Amino acid sequence: MERLRPVSDVWMWPENRAIPRGELLDRVRDAQGLYCMLTDGIDAELLAAAPRLAAVSQMAVGVDNVDLSACTERGIPVGHTPDVLTETTADTAFGLLIAAARRFREGMEDVLEGRWGEWDPAALLGRDLHGSTLGIVGLGRIGRAVARRAAGFRMRVLYNKRSRDHPAEERLGVEFRSFGALLAESDHVVVLTSLNSGTHGLIDRAALAMMKPTATLVNASRGQVVDTDALVEALSCGWIAAAGLDVTDPEPMPSSHRLVSLPNCLVVPHIGSATVRTRTLMAERAAENLVAALRGKQMPYCANPEVYG
Ligand code: GLV
Ligand code: GLV
Repeated sequence: MERLRPVSDVWMWPENRAIPRGELLDRVRDAQGLYCMLTDGIDAELLAAAPRLAAVSQMAVGVDNVDLSACTERGIPVGHTPDVLTETTADTAFGLLIAAARRFREGMEDVLEGRWGEWDPAALLGRDLHGSTLGIVGLGRIGRAVARRAAGFRMRVLYNKRSRDHPAEERLGVEFRSFGALLAESDHVVVLTSLNSGTHGLIDRAALAMMKPTATLVNASRGQVVDTDALVEALSCGWIAAAGLDVTDPEPMPSSHRLVSLPNCLVVPHIGSATVRTRTLMAERAAENLVAALRGKQMPYCANPEVYG
């Protein structure tokens, strides 16, 4: 707000929850700039309701909630917040991996519910991370940051993405695999791809069936990359051993959902970038993008740079 006020009149949705759709559509009618969250659908309907809109700035790196081509067609740059959240989100993904593979949820539940009996040499046996093979689906900024962490655990790292990343192979020692080979060979799989038409439902029944029965699945990208019903089946039938999820489909995930009840499924509520420092940097970066656009300059972090082409 401090950065935006000097360049513009600012109205801010004052509540600590997503702005209701009707209110958003109403408020954008005269707006030239929009500072939004990943819970706001920036689609044809919204653009039609906002004839003066000239810039969209989202406080997140993922912009799957934004119709980028519709914005580009209207000449609207869309800002996002890469880089500042990379390391924090990689920490979260790695934390989920450790927690899921080593069964922290079941252990915590035993303690909380008074089931912590005598030390039992056979209780809560999980799977090791160190020395295992990690598969990373989507080797972007966050995926590479996870690969660096895995090196410290002496893991072998496989990756899959649309095209081979030779610099990453040289620098990080990661090995390319086809999607199927990665699933079959990995002891743990971390999903960090962005959500698009090619990755929607990517981790489906067939994919889960290819994984090892001892494998852990971590998703810190978008919930829709994983087929929820298939994951429930995989976790309850032993196709895979455990899952650690920062994102789900639907989101928020109701506590009554079958997925949440599974003891081998650990879910946290989309907190990948949630540290004081990183959320502050994201807020500033999103403001910086919007201020640049409102001043007629190029956004420094633009998700549809072709708009300037
Ligand atoms: C969070 O999910 C983000 O995309 O920044
Ligand atoms: C466990 O606490 C051990 O001492 O091995």
